[in-house]
Amino acid sequence: MENKFNRTLVTAALPYANGGVHIGHLAGVYVPADIYVRYLRLRGREVLFVCGSDEHGVPVTIRARKEGCTPQEVVDRYNRVIKESFEGFGISFDVFGRTTSDTHRHLASDFFRTLYDKGEFIEKESEQYYDEEAGTFLADRYITGECPHCHAEGAYGDQCEKCGTALSPTELINPRSTVSGGAPVLRKTKHWYLPLDRHQQWLEPWITQDHKEWRSNVMGQCKSWFDMGLQPRAVSRDLDWGIPVPVEGADGKVLYVWFDAPIGYISNTKELLPDTWEKWWKSKDTRLVHFIGKDNIVFHCIVFPAMLKAHGDYVLPDNVPSNEFLNLEDDKISTSRNWAVWLDEYLCELPGKQDVLRYVLTANAPETKDNNFTWRDFQARNNNELVAVYGNFVNRALQLTKKYYGGEVPACGELTGADREIIGEFQGVKAEVERLIEAFRFRDAQKEAMNLARIGNKYLADSEPWKIVKTDPERVKTILHIALQLVGNLAIAFEPFLPFSSQKLRGMLGMGKVEWDRLGSLDLLPAGHRLAEPELLFEKIEDSLVEAQVQKLLDTKKANEAASYKAQPVRPDIAFEDFEKLDIRVGTVTACERVPKADKLLKFEIADGLENRTIVSGIAKHYAPEDLVGKQVCFIANLPPRKLRGIESQGMIISAENADGSLSVVTVDREVKPGSQVK
Ligand code: 2FM
Ligand code: ZN
Repeated sequence: MENKFNRTLVTAALPYANGGVHIGHLAGVYVPADIYVRYLRLRGREVLFVCGSDEHGVPVTIRARKEGCTPQEVVDRYNRVIKESFEGFGISFDVFGRTTSDTHRHLASDFFRTLYDKGEFIEKESEQYYDEEAGTFLADRYITGECPHCHAEGAYGDQCEKCGTALSPTELINPRSTVSGGAPVLRKTKHWYLPLDRHQQWLEPWITQDHKEWRSNVMGQCKSWFDMGLQPRAVSRDLDWGIPVPVEGADGKVLYVWFDAPIGYISNTKELLPDTWEKWWKSKDTRLVHFIGKDNIVFHCIVFPAMLKAHGDYVLPDNVPSNEFLNLEDDKISTSRNWAVWLDEYLCELPGKQDVLRYVLTANAPETKDNNFTWRDFQARNNNELVAVYGNFVNRALQLTKKYYGGEVPACGELTGADREIIGEFQGVKAEVERLIEAFRFRDAQKEAMNLARIGNKYLADSEPWKIVKTDPERVKTILHIALQLVGNLAIAFEPFLPFSSQKLRGMLGMGKVEWDRLGSLDLLPAGHRLAEPELLFEKIEDSLVEAQVQKLLDTKKANEAASYKAQPVRPDIAFEDFEKLDIRVGTVTACERVPKADKLLKFEIADGLENRTIVSGIAKHYAPEDLVGKQVCFIANLPPRKLRGIESQGMIISAENADGSLSVVTVDREVKPGSQVK
């Protein structure tokens, strides 16, 4: 397979420029793509890494409307934010372009026109919702109404976020336009469709037979599309933000964002290499690899290849390594709920720790299934792996060299059996890391690189140079010579994964950037070579840092709950006499304790101005018993007694339920006599 190709073109999904980028983006697409590209470059391969921002589409117009600015202002802002975030994490694109560039507009427009002229589209009229007041057709997201399935209000024209069902706008009950607030009407409109049904014939064997090596999650999704039978897909929209459809009679119509976005890979290449871009896209010896998240599979495996094939000049993807999703603290990452770790915030709040996040996201990469990021795991991986294994080995080797030889690499003497064993082990790592990276198994590849450091630690622990430095100085020279070669090897092995740390380590070793092929060498640092002053490669992460990040997420959760809180509808009216039947009183809590073996219950002794009473209440999760003693609480005095866990409860303490489900007892605002009635 490898021999067919002379160069590799790697693309990473173009993120929408309607918001920033978060750890889910990094873990799903950009870190794996960057590892792959850095690895290929280190191997001296011809490679190009292309990305940019996806700047058309409805999400951008929604954000602009919300913020009272133009779509162009939105994409200008987020293009910058996204680009800087990626740069901050060392994602080494050769080009980060934009789908609002002139190059892109022209190329996407020409692409459409070519397909149109070749008769690759079908034209169809359909009925779509139109807002008469605003004078515009409505994108699915601009229509809300009642969900026909769960009857929640506020479901969107493409999906109900409450029950998750995919919808089409005409299914909504009482649809409303979010542009004017009015009821939309159905109007006829014409669009161009890519007849994917015609392409199934070649697409299906091309994927399922010629590309059996694609990841099973990718293959699974493709097969299920094929099983359902591909349908024509509209490639135009009625919208005022996008690339105009370049044919007669298409006023007010633009290219569908998913038609123009993947063409962005081509136009961004052209933007970078105006004279030689075609070599990357039109030569059979180019290997095209798309890194994407799982929600993009159909577009990259089916729609875009169909577009490329219909056009006729372009190479098709050779692989589409798609990851699953990353969750955050056991909850789905969500931009609208702000449930995310934003990269620009991370860079400000945890400066210098880019590699820690790269490491943790790769160690937990959602390669085969959804995975979870937690701040505790982040801390543990940093402290127990980066610091305790990698950093520790490097530090020990460098400090001992400094102490015994003034920072000069000692000469290697005769090798023992133990030395040969270690050397054999670490030389095996190269082939293994290569095999894994080339199979897009970055998580295992990084683990394998970490093994080098484990091997090094074991070597020092077993050979104990500090114990024999006086008695056998020649042996110690050999041990440290080998240990230092191992350190040098670590700088190479981690270069694709942790580029900042490798650079720092190379600085400490006084070693330039070396090619991948030197991995496994025993002569990276010759005898007599001077090392620079050792520094710590990684720092321990304290509890306080992690706690602050967890608190930030808890605050987000609280804010979301408060924002989404809706008071319950008022119950049907009751007769005034019925209200008068309720005897609500104030009592003073004289004692309060937990009910054994009942984690929700508290037992109260209440002074009620009469004979005093015992009440059992289910608020143990919300109060410590001692905090309630002395408080005046309101209770219903005339309920029949009830036995709870063997205790007779003579009434009910009244509490208010907050948005998050927490309970707050109802008290009085000035002290009153126990037994006072609440009227
Ligand atoms: O899902 C997304 O964020 C899309 N903007 C990805 C587009 S990838 C490509 F086709 F440009
Ligand atoms: Zn629903």
